[in-house]
Amino acid sequence: MSILLMLNLKGGVAKTTNAVAISECLAYMGHKVLVIDADHQCLASELLLGEDGVLRSERRKQTFHDLLAAMLDDEFEEQRIPPFIIENASNIGEGYANLHVIPCSIRIDDFQSNMARARRGYNTIDEYHKELRRKRAMLQRYLQTAYDYVIVDCPPSLALQVRQVLGIGDAFIVPCIPDRLSIRGSAWLLERLRRGNVTRIRALGTLWSLYRQQAKIHRFCVEEAGKENPPAPFDELPRPFKTVIPNASRIAEATEPGINPSSFVAKYSAPFAHLYQDLCGEIASRLRKDA
Ligand SMILES: Nc1ncnc2c1ncn2[C@@H]1O[C@H](COP(=O)(O)OP(=O)(O)OP(=O)(O)O)[C@@H](O)[C@H]1O
Ligand SMILES: [Mg+2]
Repeated sequence: MSILLMLNLKGGVAKTTNAVAISECLAYMGHKVLVIDADHQCLASELLLGEDGVLRSERRKQTFHDLLAAMLDDEFEEQRIPPFIIENASNIGEGYANLHVIPCSIRIDDFQSNMARARRGYNTIDEYHKELRRKRAMLQRYLQTAYDYVIVDCPPSLALQVRQVLGIGDAFIVPCIPDRLSIRGSAWLLERLRRGNVTRIRALGTLWSLYRQQAKIHRFCVEEAGKENPPAPFDELPRPFKTVIPNASRIAEATEPGINPSSFVAKYSAPFAHLYQDLCGEIASRLRKDA
C-alpha cells in the first residue's frame, strides 16, 4: 500500500485533474483507493462527489479539515477515522465502490490557528509534537491496512495540512508542464523539502502534463529531461515517467459536471484511458523498485 502526494509549488499544472484520473484508473483496475483532498479549492472533491456532495460533506463536517481537527483531540482513536470517509466516489456509472474520498473544506485554512490553540494544552513543544506524531502514525496505520493506494491532491504550496501528510506519505509525484515556469515550481519544491529536512519521502517521478506537441519548448523539455544524463536544470527533476499526458480537450471535458459516463474508458476515451493505465503501471513498477 502506498500514500502518494501530487505536489508542485507551481499552480495549474494539472495536479487535481491527474490525481482524479489516476485514482479512477486505479479503481477501474480493481484497486482499493482513497483520495484525500488537501486543497482548500476542493476541486478533487467536486470532481469525485459533485457540487452537492461537497456541500453535504461540509454540512456534516465530514472533511479533511474536520479529521485533522479531531486528531488534535486527546481522545482521538483509530475508530474515529472511518466517518470522515465517503465511499462510492466518481461520476462514472454509479460511482466506484472501491474509490473513497475524504473531501476538503475551505475551513482547512483555519487549521493553523487550530493547531496553535491545541499547542497551548501541552507543557512543552516536544510533548505536543510527540503526541501529533503518535496520531499521524495511527492514521498511517489505518490507511495502510484499508487501502492499496492513497492519492493526496495538494495545493500549490507546502501548507500545514500538506506537511501533515508529508509526514506519513511514501512518495510524491510532480505533475509539471514542460516549460520554464513549471520546472521552476518543481525545483522550488525539491529545494524546500531539502531545506525542511523532509527526506524520508521519495520523489517518484515528474509527470509531464498539458503537453503540446506543437510547442517547441514542450518538445525540448521532454527530450532533454528524458536523456540518460540530463543537463541542468533537468538533472534536478525527479526522473520523468515515460507516459506523457497531453493537453487534450477530451481530458478537460471529462471534468464537466452533469455527465455520467458509463465507464472509465467512456469518460476519458480509449486512447487517454490507456495512457492512464500505462502511467499506473509505471507508478506501480517504480513503487515496487523503491520498496
Ligand atoms: N490533460 C489536460 N488537457 C486539457 N486540459 C487540462 C488537462 N489537465 C488539466 N487541464 C485543465 O487545466 C486546468 C488546470 O488543471 P488543474 O486544476 O488540474 O491544475 P492544478 O495543478 O490542480 O491547479 P492548482 O494549482 O490550482 O490546484 C484546468 O482548467 C483543467 O481542466
Ligand atoms: Mg488543484
